[in-house]
Amino acid sequence: MSGELRVDGARLCKNLAEMGRIGRRSGFEGVTRLALSEEDGEARDLLVSWMREEGLSVSVDPIGNIFGVRKGSNPGFKPVIMGSHIDTVIDAGIFDGAYGVLGALEVVKRLNEEGIETIHPVGVGCFTNEEGVRFPPDMMGSLVKTGGYPLEKAYERRDDDGVTVKEALVGIGYLGKDNVDPEAYFELHVEQGPILHKRGFKIGVVEGVQGIAWWRVRLHGEANHAGTTPLDMRRDAMAGAAELYCGLLESVKRRGNALCTMGKLRLEPGAINVVPSLADFTIDYRSYDDATFRDGKADVTRMVEEIAMRRGLSIEKEMTADAQPVHFRPEMVGLVEGEARRLGYSTLRLPSGAGHDAQFMHTTCPTAMIFVPSINGVSHSPGERSEPEDLERGTNVLLGCALARAGVKE
Ligand code: GLV
Ligand code: MN
Ligand code: MN
Repeated sequence: MSGELRVDGARLCKNLAEMGRIGRRSGFEGVTRLALSEEDGEARDLLVSWMREEGLSVSVDPIGNIFGVRKGSNPGFKPVIMGSHIDTVIDAGIFDGAYGVLGALEVVKRLNEEGIETIHPVGVGCFTNEEGVRFPPDMMGSLVKTGGYPLEKAYERRDDDGVTVKEALVGIGYLGKDNVDPEAYFELHVEQGPILHKRGFKIGVVEGVQGIAWWRVRLHGEANHAGTTPLDMRRDAMAGAAELYCGLLESVKRRGNALCTMGKLRLEPGAINVVPSLADFTIDYRSYDDATFRDGKADVTRMVEEIAMRRGLSIEKEMTADAQPVHFRPEMVGLVEGEARRLGYSTLRLPSGAGHDAQFMHTTCPTAMIFVPSINGVSHSPGERSEPEDLERGTNVLLGCALARAGVKE
């Protein structure tokens, strides 16, 4: 039966567009649904209403992850969960995360329409704060769920306005008490990079996810007059941050298998004619290679210390995320590849450059990821696009994988 069943790509795209209307702001082209914001709450409410329309049993766990589960023929069996996230970065596209959640919902809709009874229950999962933009660490929902981060510590994380995760969860009504324990987890996602599109492959078979380390750093110097303070008498916090960024970029370029980004920077006092007394910034460092990931993290620490000492700056530094490189189980990678090929889609094995909830779900249950091409590899940007046919193909692979893992009652 799974051989003939296909998803409804047009309906999937319509639902993506509808969810993609939530979080539009004037002056921005894309969507902004920062985790646990009012907009995230609105998108969650829409998702839950769609889950209920499909007769799913909806539950919310203590960190706000949402699960909508469809009964299987054996009530004692654990559910096969398909999912991703619906929070976004600032001014994002409509596919990052939402595709995996609404793709999963589309699979459930088709099972309902065809009256297919699976042996394991099958469900849709939506994880809290995958992006980590408002509250680090990223992938917070899956990280807490899988025991990689204490719930109480997550509750206490604060955004730039001092609001805690717990307050924000309560504010949007998504602090729950339930627990769903998946038998397996599948995450469908746009690639967010250029490889599949450039090389003309239809399905990315994800072998693993690169390691991600985040820091928040504050370099403290001394405010002084821009016109009278000689260079060698300055304690310029911005000069320290700039030297650090250039140094880190040189170091990842030399290594060749790592990336580094300083994506957020704030200066004090923030005046054209004052030497900055504070540079408050973030560092994002990534590598798929275990040794490079470890050594690169040590480089970051060493360089911050060296530069600060030479420039007379003092340091406040917090590591806000530290997710190791992950390699999915060969049988799960093989399942995705087999389903894609059975459907006649060209496949390419590749690691993920972006972070995903799958990298933590993998620590507690068999997990796999399916990628579809991103046009020109653009993501975390309003220019993020994928072809409707590609979105449909990926969701067909998801359907095949979920049925293979859940089993169909004859
Ligand atoms: C999540 O999208 C990340 O890779 O930062
Ligand atoms: Mn994502
Ligand atoms: Mn993202």
